[in-house]
Formats: sequence, C-alpha cells, structure tokens
Amino acid sequence: MTKTIAVVSRKGGVGKSTLCSNLAVIAKNATILDCDDQASLADWGDRRTKTQPKVIAIPPKRAASTLKQVNSKWCFIDTPGTLDASVIEVMQTADFVLVVLRYGQFELDSISTTLSAVRLIDRPTAIVLNLLHPSTNTQDLISSIEEANLGCPICPVAICSRADFQTAAIEGFGVTELSVSSKASDEIKGLWSWLRKECK
Ligand SMILES: Nc1ncnc2c1ncn2[C@@H]1O[C@H](COP(=O)(O)OP(=O)(O)O)[C@@H](O)[C@H]1O
Ligand SMILES: [Mg+2]
Repeated sequence: MTKTIAVVSRKGGVGKSTLCSNLAVIAKNATILDCDDQASLADWGDRRTKTQPKVIAIPPKRAASTLKQVNSKWCFIDTPGTLDASVIEVMQTADFVLVVLRYGQFELDSISTTLSAVRLIDRPTAIVLNLLHPSTNTQDLISSIEEANLGCPICPVAICSRADFQTAAIEGFGVTELSVSSKASDEIKGLWSWLRKECK
C-alpha cells in the first residue's frame, strides 16, 4: 500500500520542491507526482541519470486517479505555492501533509490561514522549517514556535540554507547522493527518519 505525502505551502520559493525531491531520493522506493505547472521536479527528473524516483507531471485534479496507478512504497506530491481548491483536493488524497515554512515573522503571522485550510481536510500534518540560517539554534527556535501553540506539530528536525541543496538540484540529485555525510544530508536523513515514523 503506497503511503502518500503532500508537500504544501501558500507561498512559492519556500522549498517544497527541494524537500520533495530530497525526501523521495532518501525514501528510495518512491514516486513523485509533480502537480505544479512550473514542473521543477519533472525537469529535475530529466536531469537525473537514475531511474528512481519516477516523476510524473500532472495537473492537481489528476492526482487521485494517478495515485491509483502508483505502486511504489512512497509517493510525494509536490504542489504549487497556493492552497486553492485544487491543492485542497490533492491534500485529500494524501496520508500525511507536510507544510513547509520558510521561517520569518511575517510567514509565522500568516501560517494560521494555511493551517485553517489544512485542518479542513483532517489529515495528519506537520510543519517543517526550511531555509533557516545555518547559525540558527534550531532546537530553541522549534521550542519557541511550539510555545505559540499553532495547533499543528512542528517537525523536530529543521532544514538550514545549505549550498548542497542547490548543487543537488542542478545535478538532478538529492543531497544524500552528493555526500553521505554533510550537514544537508544529515538534516534530510533526520527529517525522513521522523517523517516515516509519523506516516506509519
Ligand atoms: N534548504 C535549502 N538550502 C538552500 N537552498 C534551498 C533550500 N531549500 C530551497 N532552496 C532553494 O530555494 C529555491 C526555492 O526552492 P523550491 O524548492 O523551488 O521552492 P518551492 O517549490 O516552494 O517554490 C531554489 O533555488 C532551491 O534550490
Ligand atoms: Mg516548487
């Protein structure tokens, strides 16, 4: 039975496609449904020399029917930077919704609207922080956001801004394929280790 994770946010440029591709690489037996018409991951897939993960570019409304043909263990759905009706429909097909937050006060101020939309679909959800400055004390930041009681779990592993993510995107790799032990690689391993348990 395929476990499906939708990666969402109301904003573009927060790292949805980056996290989707890196998680799909480390998950190994995975398919990506690229539901964003920018087709970043379809292009990334074209640059890859490996056959896994398979990337299928489709409009959001085709996600549910396409999922029926997916037979990998994991499926990651990349979405456009909006939470309109078509993305809500995509989230309804998912077992888990990962909300990507590029941390900043304005982003935090607007997250409640995102979470209201996500709550409508009643799926297990978590927020993952991405693009933190590498000098950030991530544990302190996560604790302070948790104290704000957003009503949604915060993933205990946050992802910092690291050049490896950009190099990997150019090469059609995941950061764990660039280097088995780098800070970016460790963060993705940590995120995946947490996420896969949440999806059980
Ligand atoms: N953790 C990160 N470290 C460095 N660069 C990142 C990171 N996450 C995303 N990026 C870069 O930020 C840009 C936007 O990321 P992308 O995944 O395309 O966002 P989205 O899919 O939300 O629009 C890309 O150039 C990507 O390489
Ligand atoms: Mg994208």
